[in-house]
Amino acid sequence: MFATPLIDSALIKLFRFRTRKFMHMEEADGQVPPAPKEGGCYLYVHIPFCEVLCPFCSFHRVQHCHEQATRYFTALRAEIWQYHLAGFKFEGVYFGGGTPTIEPDELIETIGLVRRLFGVKEVSVETNPKDLEQPLLGRLQAAGVTRLSVGVQSFDNDLLHEMERYDKYGSGEETAARIKAAAGMFPTLNVDLIFNQAHQTRASLERDLDIFLSLGANQVSCYPLMTAPTVKRRMETAMGVPDRRRLRLLFGAIQRKLLPEFTASSAWCFTRHGHGTDEYIVASENYVGVGSGAFSYLDGTLYSTSFSLVAYEKRIKEGLTGIVTRHQLSEGDTMRYSLLTRMFGLGLDREWARRRHGRKFFWVLWGELRTLELLRAATRTKRGWQLTPRGMYWLMLMMSEFFESVNTYRDAMRAHVQAELEAAGKKALRPATTQPVPVCG
Ligand SMILES: C[S@@+](CC[C@H](N)C(=O)[O-])C[C@H]1O[C@@H](n2cnc3c(N)ncnc32)[C@H](O)[C@@H]1O
Ligand code: SF4
Repeated sequence: MFATPLIDSALIKLFRFRTRKFMHMEEADGQVPPAPKEGGCYLYVHIPFCEVLCPFCSFHRVQHCHEQATRYFTALRAEIWQYHLAGFKFEGVYFGGGTPTIEPDELIETIGLVRRLFGVKEVSVETNPKDLEQPLLGRLQAAGVTRLSVGVQSFDNDLLHEMERYDKYGSGEETAARIKAAAGMFPTLNVDLIFNQAHQTRASLERDLDIFLSLGANQVSCYPLMTAPTVKRRMETAMGVPDRRRLRLLFGAIQRKLLPEFTASSAWCFTRHGHGTDEYIVASENYVGVGSGAFSYLDGTLYSTSFSLVAYEKRIKEGLTGIVTRHQLSEGDTMRYSLLTRMFGLGLDREWARRRHGRKFFWVLWGELRTLELLRAATRTKRGWQLTPRGMYWLMLMMSEFFESVNTYRDAMRAHVQAELEAAGKKALRPATTQPVPVCG
């Protein structure tokens, strides 16, 4: 049995309070930040273009425009060179979006550049179900993609209609057939599902999982439906109002379906062979985000790049990076960030924490560690702390809370960009989405 909703809400309140300063960003100068002194580093490349702007999505995305996208990729590669020249080393690269596969030639050229400059072996790419076909799959395979992640969200056609994805990305049956055909082409084929949609029943979610299990893909990321102030109204009009009280029941159903055959790779990602992970923030201690609307985390400092595509291009032409804001976390917050990301990735290694933060880590975070133990969310092992299946539920809640606070920051940045564009006399927004639209041509 899981704990009561009262514990859930107390934990979330405490979590919000303890992490309230994480996103307090200040202006930054745009120079390449210092390479991390401690631990490995991942590269995250953001491609914000999409063919349709889904009503629930709070990522940094804009309506696709070919000319703008081509210029954007050129700027991206110039920014990647800057990190190479500054001596950065990367363990792997993650192309996220938006929709990275929207401009295949540009994407493949960029993957080639990253592999040449940094010798990375892990290459992860996000895509949508429509792009899951030949010859693109073969080209991605030849380019060295090791993990392909497909945004399915659900196989339920009624829900796909509500999400406004049915017409563009195909029916549940078409998507399932494409995944089946792609299975085995990449070391990891991941399927993204979203649970706790307002009109999603437990039976519909279980059917989604059964279909997934029958397709031969070896990883699934089950995201709880999250939101942001700017998308909330549009999302609720299109899809209804989700009930957060159902999260526990639905997450339990996911674990029961998946855990016999799959092992958890993080609190919301499950992998057939028990290896591989879903989030670059778990895969590595540090990460650099390039492109517009991307985040970096380097030795306890968070950075964000510009959300304006026009400003981003301009900055790169001036020899700057896209970085416009930064926040150096306090020592205690750096420790809390480590605890959140390590526990989300299923465990905290005592030696690692001591090396990274010193012995004081254990007394500064004594309360947090003790609470996890008392709730039986984590067990103490020889090596450190191991997340339990019931702890996965709470870490899933905390990580979605953290993502929602990042979404609020994204909203603030987009409002700022909108004001800038309006001041410059440009028609900045699509009325239905409040997303800045690229200036085409
Ligand atoms: C940035 S998208 C890239 C995938 C691709 N653009 C697509 O949608 O097919 C990555 C994943 O984020 C998840 N996502 C987007 N908005 C979300 C939300 N509001 N709540 C939970 N997950 C969300 C979806 O599962 C999506 O597949
Ligand atoms: S869910 Fe994917 S396709 Fe839809 S708007 Fe977000 S990034 Fe674009």
